[in-house]
Amino acid sequence: MAYTVAIDGPAASGKGTLARALAAHFGFAHLDTGLLYRAVGARMLDGIEPLAAARALRADDLDPALLRTQAVAEAASKVAARPEVRQALLDFQRAFARRSGGAVLDGRDIGTVICPEAETKLFITASAEVRARRRFLELIAAGQAVTEAEVLADVRQRDDRDMNRADAPLRAADDAVRMDTTEMGIDAVLEQAVALIAARIPG
Ligand code: CDP
Repeated sequence: MAYTVAIDGPAASGKGTLARALAAHFGFAHLDTGLLYRAVGARMLDGIEPLAAARALRADDLDPALLRTQAVAEAASKVAARPEVRQALLDFQRAFARRSGGAVLDGRDIGTVICPEAETKLFITASAEVRARRRFLELIAAGQAVTEAEVLADVRQRDDRDMNRADAPLRAADDAVRMDTTEMGIDAVLEQAVALIAARIPG
């Protein structure tokens, strides 16, 4: 059985945490599509041409520990604005979304471009300040030297670039359920999402 949960939203909105928890709950596979763009962005910082990097991407390149830095996030949002890079990453994501046994994908264009037929679509938001605070705490816990003001500026700049690019801009699909997590903890978000998904599983 194919069953796709598409989770989209702006930077550090809690998509990844929710996606991982939902995949564990339902026994679905999970793909953090941001890691694909981060891996290509990291290669660009090493001087490799982004399209060539996207075409040569392998599972081993998707190490979150190496890719969750401010510099790589910024590079990711630049390469993500290039249509040929997005195109090179499309088939892999589509096949993953429709794999048998269920899949959760989180990103920016999952419900709109990658899998418009997804059985459940969620659009996760939170205020920029709250998102920056959460990301700041994650980055310093990982030992990175950043200030909260820098993280807020980066989050705003990437959101602006992601929403205003011509190809696959960040936006909610018309049939997505919106959840604002500014004042909601992960447990409450998870509970609501589980109920929505369960209601749409056949049988
Ligand atoms: O974790 P965070 O929300 O900060 O970022 P991410 O999901 O790892 O994505 C990094 C960047 O990749 C984003 O700012 C987008 O520019 C790009 N991206 C995209 O264009 N499409 C996706 N499906 C996923 C990420």
